[in-house]
Amino acid sequence: MKELNRETALITGGASGIGLSTGKRLAEAGMNVVLADVEVPVLNEAVAELGELGYKAMGIHCDVSDMASMEEMKNQIEKEFGNPKVVCLNAGVGFGSSISEATIRDWEWVVGVNLWGVVNGLCTFLPDIKKMGEGHIVMTSSIAGHISVPNLGPYSATKFAVVSIAETLRQELLAENSKVGVSCLCPGFVSTNIWDSERNRPENLLNNSGDESTDEEFLQREAFMEWMNANAKQPSEVAELVYQAISNNKFWIFTDDQHLNGVKARHSSIVSGEELPWPAPPLIDL
Ligand SMILES: NC(=O)c1ccc[n+]([C@@H]2O[C@H](COP(=O)([O-])OP(=O)(O)OC[C@H]3O[C@@H](n4cnc5c(N)ncnc54)[C@H](O)[C@@H]3O)[C@@H](O)[C@H]2O)c1
Repeated sequence: MKELNRETALITGGASGIGLSTGKRLAEAGMNVVLADVEVPVLNEAVAELGELGYKAMGIHCDVSDMASMEEMKNQIEKEFGNPKVVCLNAGVGFGSSISEATIRDWEWVVGVNLWGVVNGLCTFLPDIKKMGEGHIVMTSSIAGHISVPNLGPYSATKFAVVSIAETLRQELLAENSKVGVSCLCPGFVSTNIWDSERNRPENLLNNSGDESTDEEFLQREAFMEWMNANAKQPSEVAELVYQAISNNKFWIFTDDQHLNGVKARHSSIVSGEELPWPAPPLIDL
């Protein structure tokens, strides 16, 4: 979509990290920007920041896992700006657990935000974008949507699903000669608040166990955060890639090539029918 100026963009999970940077980048391109999020105080700060920069922005409290909340948001956006032509379905929560240890509440939370959030967003906004005959949808998956890594099972499952939805929608729209574009954002490690996703976990989906981290887990987390601070991409770098992909109707958005060997190894094992490489190469070397 070449002409972004004065059009409206919605970004879910827009109060922080990749979503907030994408909002800023699209506002810089002249778009009216709607940031949607569950974390209201930081959402308000983000909207105020955009306002101070002279951009047209609005914040909406929306829980993407809840279709009624999504529909309510659509009404609010229509009143203020009309239908959004760019929709970034980006809200997501990070969650680490083995498949054996993940509880039904863990699954409900992660699938609710990361997968239903995308499905609810598509069902709410895609029909009008198609009617307008022009627009762009960005779905945020992850490199974990291409490789399966131990202890990231529920998260990875949602991100694989998002890749499939994005690929399918892209092909369907091309088959219809539609001018609506699709991008699938697959970040590697980006320095955001994703590692603190539990801050937004609804009370009814908390586990009752109250498990404390072990000393070993605590040290692992420290080492990981140190690695992140030194090596992860900045959200603004990812936002620039998103902006370029929307402008040039580019489907894949990979943020780096660090994990591409893992993707290739998985694909060759599918083609050859041989066992997956085991142990799986770690995502990072701590
Ligand atoms: N940071 C990374 O390294 C990384 C890597 C791969 C993929 N991703 C994906 O990028 C996306 C953005 O994450 P981020 O890294 O910027 O993290 P972040 O925590 O900084 O931002 C995520 C935002 O989503 C919001 N959110 C959480 N639950 C929500 C809900 N139910 N409804 C609406 N908003 C909700 C949070 O409040 C937060 O503002 C996610 O989909 C994530 O899975 C991130």
